[in-house]
Amino acid sequence: MSFDFFNPVKIHFGTDSLKDAGKIAKKYGTHALIVTGKSSMQKSGVLDKLVKILKDEGINSIVFSDITPNPTIDEIDAAAKLAKEKNIDLIIGLGGGSPLDSSKAIAVAAKGNIPVWDYLKIQPKGALPIITIVSTSGTGSEVNRFSVMTNTKTGEKPGFGYECMYPKEAIIDPVIMQSMPKYVTATTGFDVFVHVLEAYTGKISNPIADSYCEKAFALLRESFIAACNEPENIKARSDMAIASALAGLAIDSAGVGIIHALEHPVSGNFPNIAHGAGLAALIIASMELNIKDKTCREKYAKVAHIFGNIKGNKTEEDMAYELIETVKKILSDVGLNAKLKDLGVSEDKLEKISKEAFTTMNFAVLNNPVVLGEKEALELLKDSF
Ligand SMILES: [Fe+2]
Repeated sequence: MSFDFFNPVKIHFGTDSLKDAGKIAKKYGTHALIVTGKSSMQKSGVLDKLVKILKDEGINSIVFSDITPNPTIDEIDAAAKLAKEKNIDLIIGLGGGSPLDSSKAIAVAAKGNIPVWDYLKIQPKGALPIITIVSTSGTGSEVNRFSVMTNTKTGEKPGFGYECMYPKEAIIDPVIMQSMPKYVTATTGFDVFVHVLEAYTGKISNPIADSYCEKAFALLRESFIAACNEPENIKARSDMAIASALAGLAIDSAGVGIIHALEHPVSGNFPNIAHGAGLAALIIASMELNIKDKTCREKYAKVAHIFGNIKGNKTEEDMAYELIETVKKILSDVGLNAKLKDLGVSEDKLEKISKEAFTTMNFAVLNNPVVLGEKEALELLKDSF
């Protein structure tokens, strides 16, 4: 076995840790671009609070609030242009996965002279310093280097990440998460589950990432449903925030698999679909495929155990299949048992989606425990339809 494990992100976790944003940001400059979405951080009052906290420390901030779910390269290039015009020193991503992912892509594009899409092939020379302030418990983007962006002309939605894209510091304040609506809590929380499931069972899984995954599974078991049903439950929100960060660290080192490889083109082609809802539609068929791999089966059995399934006289295979039943129950408990067609995917796009998994997310296909080609990927999409 050989592996690398690296993560340079300084994490500030705690209730009301938002108050430290000014002191943290001051280390990186006096002109900040806050990158956020169109409404939730405005409605919850967190954006205004952040602007004031920064101002109190002498930091001028400009707000770019045009980031949509499944952020586009046009949005990212527009924000990068603004950052250059205003001589911005640092980028602060505020919100869920979309603004956080975008903040990293903007930080790269603002430092260079080419459209952000070109950085899929060209290594960037560097990036502006990035601070993440996360409002959901989902992507883990707050602590890793990854960014996902959509090309609206082609529907492609690749993930990418370079070492310069690691946030310098991440603020994880569970109080901010109390305003997250139930559906967002469910879809982002399910994203956490799939991150750890795919990192734990992927070909490049490693013992350090595994230990993060095992802790994240335990936190999900304890608090996922509670966070969905009791928005103000700070213990559940804290547990989910930690699970999200652990999952973000795990995928940074151990990657994701076929569920993510297929979901990106699903929500790339159908941008109204939430990432976690797409993952939920794809997970059962993917697990039924991956359970055929012996190492994956062993890991599934371990996860089933963490989720409270008692081994007794059962075989490893029995336990692994019990995990699939556990996942079905979770999906039903959090209201995410829609198939692809229920989410609005049209059948004539399935072939395009399966092809794009191999062109834009091939690193994830290659990390999947079971080797599969376009034909098997298409079958999996049809089973999930
Ligand atoms: Fe994800």
